[in-house]
Amino acid sequence: MKTFLFFALYFLLAGTVSTTSPPRYEAIFNFGDSLSDTGNFLLSGALAFPVIGKLPYGETFFQHATGRCSDGRLIIDFVAEAFGLPYLPPYLALKEGQAFKHGVNFAVAGATALDAEYFYDQKIGSVLWTNASLNIQLDWFKKLKSSLCTSEQECDNYLKKSLFFVGEIGGNDYNYAAFVGGSIKQLRASVPFVVEAITKATTSLIEEGAVELVVPGNLPIGCSAVYLTLFQSPNKADYDPRNGCLKAFNAFAKYHNNQLKKALQKLRENYPHANIIYADYYSPAMRLSHAPLHHGFSSGTLRSCCGGGGPYNFNNSARCGHIGSKACEDPHTYANWDGVHLTEAAYRYIAQALINATFTTSSLYA
Ligand SMILES: *[C@@H]1O[C@H](CO)[C@@H](O)[C@H](O)[C@H]1NC(C)=O
Ligand SMILES: *[C@@H]1O[C@H](CO)[C@@H](O)[C@H](O)[C@H]1NC(C)=O
Ligand SMILES: *[C@@H]1O[C@H](CO)[C@@H](O)[C@H](O)[C@H]1NC(C)=O
Repeated sequence: MKTFLFFALYFLLAGTVSTTSPPRYEAIFNFGDSLSDTGNFLLSGALAFPVIGKLPYGETFFQHATGRCSDGRLIIDFVAEAFGLPYLPPYLALKEGQAFKHGVNFAVAGATALDAEYFYDQKIGSVLWTNASLNIQLDWFKKLKSSLCTSEQECDNYLKKSLFFVGEIGGNDYNYAAFVGGSIKQLRASVPFVVEAITKATTSLIEEGAVELVVPGNLPIGCSAVYLTLFQSPNKADYDPRNGCLKAFNAFAKYHNNQLKKALQKLRENYPHANIIYADYYSPAMRLSHAPLHHGFSSGTLRSCCGGGGPYNFNNSARCGHIGSKACEDPHTYANWDGVHLTEAAYRYIAQALINATFTTSSLYA
């Protein structure tokens, strides 16, 4: 399967994909949260975040709000483009008789890896944007499967040629806990549960017939405007002098990623026929933070493009899209879009890094 991927990417880099060669994958199925939601949260009512349904969200590429939490395309959109496949339709938009053989997106903004009950048990259920956790999204896939293929052999053949993205997911499990005052120690204690939820879902997909799977890790949350604002510190030592990010939260994101990588290694041993790829979003995002100018981010990576003031242009009383906020003129020079989510420009860079890393397979299983 590695050779398979190699050739896919070879053609891609040679610029001959889509027009002259058939797509290497028949379909992409995506599970996750706002990092990859292409419309499910908006379609479900978006009660916790209605501004997602209007400009400036979507201003850059689509020129209208699509439900994507960014100014434009997301990592999953760039991946679809790279494989010559259409942008993934959100599951909740599917209509009877609609063709969705090229994939479906089950991601929902605000979704968690752990089920909603976990948060209700912790007495923080009321902060959830959605109950559509990873398990719910998995149920949606299982329900849809019978309309994608019928016989076991047909399903095996079809799913074998499909690419599955399990995440990024888990970031919100930590966000919710941190935003209601959870300490980093408490966050760390929840990592094994979050990682287990991700590997269980991955296992479940393999049992359903998935063979090609990508499992992304968490972003450097210590560099995100919302964390930098909410956890602002008078102590200079709390900041990484190389980039101005909060050290403790980045160390936490790395901790989660390392635990996830370990768990995936175990999964590879249990399912040697599956190609389980860990997608490192953390490192390319850090490269941007270390050398923003070099990568074209002339407005820096810490301040968000769209917001209502403050040192990082993130103001909880005037978040992007709300009265008192405004979007920058040049979002392609920013990495952070609305304080929480990244810009299309940053997502493009991370997607390219993912495609490149997959191409040079040695770093794949790091
Ligand atoms: C999640 O489920 C709980 C319990 O059924 C319900 O009270 C709550 O409104 C739901 N939350 C969302 C955001 O849908
Ligand atoms: C945050 O937004 C509120 C409401 O618009 C405003 O009154 C306040 O001055 C803003 N804070 C900063 C730091 O800009
Ligand atoms: C990906 O590889 C291409 C071709 O070698 C290179 O030009 C580009 O800078 C790389 N992008 C990233 C984000 O690593």
